[in-house]
Amino acid sequence: MFWRRAVDDYLLLKLIHILSSTLLFGTGLGTAFHGWMVNRSGPLAARRAVNRNVVLADWLFTTPAVIVQPVTGVWLARIAGFPLTSGWLVLAMALYVVVGACWVPVVFIQIAMRRIADETPDGEALPACYLRLSRWWFALGWPAFAGVIVIFWLMVAKPEIVL
Ligand code: HEM
Repeated sequence: MFWRRAVDDYLLLKLIHILSSTLLFGTGLGTAFHGWMVNRSGPLAARRAVNRNVVLADWLFTTPAVIVQPVTGVWLARIAGFPLTSGWLVLAMALYVVVGACWVPVVFIQIAMRRIADETPDGEALPACYLRLSRWWFALGWPAFAGVIVIFWLMVAKPEIVL
């Protein structure tokens, strides 16, 4: 039956949207934890390996999720009849842009940190710019993390927000 198929398609889309959100949040938190722990005091070889994996995880998991999230989200809203001008959706999309504005520099910072660690000879200390970059990397993670938590709440509660 047509209506039954439409419901199944909607649920499949919603499942993809939710799985993608867990990938986005989980990979972000996991790589941040791993990177922060090793960059506090880890040996150079460990930093090199973790930096490489953090960059790879961002390409493999976070980047696809960053694209899938708004595409499936807007699609869900259209099928379900939630106007894209509803307060909760406008706020979620605005926050998503803010989160993205924190994440894009983080990607470049991670690549720079990987390069610096790879180029530093064994037994030598990492240059001061590495520490500066790692501080920025850490600082930018917080607003991104908080923004995603608020988006999760907006998605689940769908509050009436008058803008
Ligand atoms: C950026 C644009 C986004 C749009 C337009 C959007 C849109 C939507 C819509 C319309 C729903 C309702 C589905 C339903 O209740 O049947 C939904 C659900 C959901 N969204 Fe998003 N979303 C976006 C981003 C995100 C992000 C960034 C996350 C988290 C990282 C997220 C997590 C969720 C979750 C967990 C649900 C399920 C809520 C529930 O079933 O109660 N969404 N989204």
